[in-house]
Amino acid sequence: MPCLAPQVRDTAYRSVRVLWALCHRLGRVTQPEPAQSSRGLFIALEGGDGAGKSTQGRLLREWLEGLGHTVVVTREPGGTDFGRSVRELVLHGDHVAPRAEALLFAADRAHHVETLIRPALERGEVVITDRYMDSSIAYQGAGRDLGVDEVRELNLWATGGLVPSLTVLVDLPAAVGRARRAGVHDRLEAEADDFHGAVRERFLALAGADPHRYLVVDGELSRDRIHELVRVRVATLLALPTIGGVSR
Ligand code: TYD
Repeated sequence: MPCLAPQVRDTAYRSVRVLWALCHRLGRVTQPEPAQSSRGLFIALEGGDGAGKSTQGRLLREWLEGLGHTVVVTREPGGTDFGRSVRELVLHGDHVAPRAEALLFAADRAHHVETLIRPALERGEVVITDRYMDSSIAYQGAGRDLGVDEVRELNLWATGGLVPSLTVLVDLPAAVGRARRAGVHDRLEAEADDFHGAVRERFLALAGADPHRYLVVDGELSRDRIHELVRVRVATLLALPTIGGVSR
């Protein structure tokens, strides 16, 4: 604040500090912590059902391992033993109330972050997760209409504010995803196309609001073309040289 008198500036700084401390005490604000603050690299793959995220996770792992990185590929829900029990409850059980559903996904994520993701990042590894908190923001916040801000806040609390360095959104129209799935496999997939349409719109809005942290790829491109686009972007995070747009 260069144009303010020193007393005014000091008072302003003090007020901001007091407000910030108060917000923390009330538990209303969690400052997102970029994963770059730890030694590893945290990448999330997001998108609708049937978008091909798992294939991209596998291809990315192979490429990164070829470059000498230690890579952990994991998923939500169900990246831990605890999470596998939650996965059964939330995806394959009977009706779950929407708020309980949001809390179960957040509980899976809290445990996943504390016992698997953070330790791997602290060891300097690359963590690739097939879905993370944007899935909750899109499916529970927008699809179930629980409120995007509330679900984001819940998940920032659950994860201690850990956000990926890069989120790759594999974007696909709901109808194309449904045709690819060739059948219903869980409670969320069973939702109607307008639910999946709202989920898609929210994913795109999240990516649009923070282009530095997102890569949006067209899920109808070939598997290899998507992998190439992902490699180029990840190479910039690893500061690797690229040749003709394709990283070595
Ligand atoms: P999964 O079998 O892992 O499907 P996919 O291969 O599409 O990732 O199923 C996960 C389902 O759970 C999927 O329909 C999305 C949903 N989901 C949520 O609704 N909220 C969440 O926070 C997460 C992680 C997943």
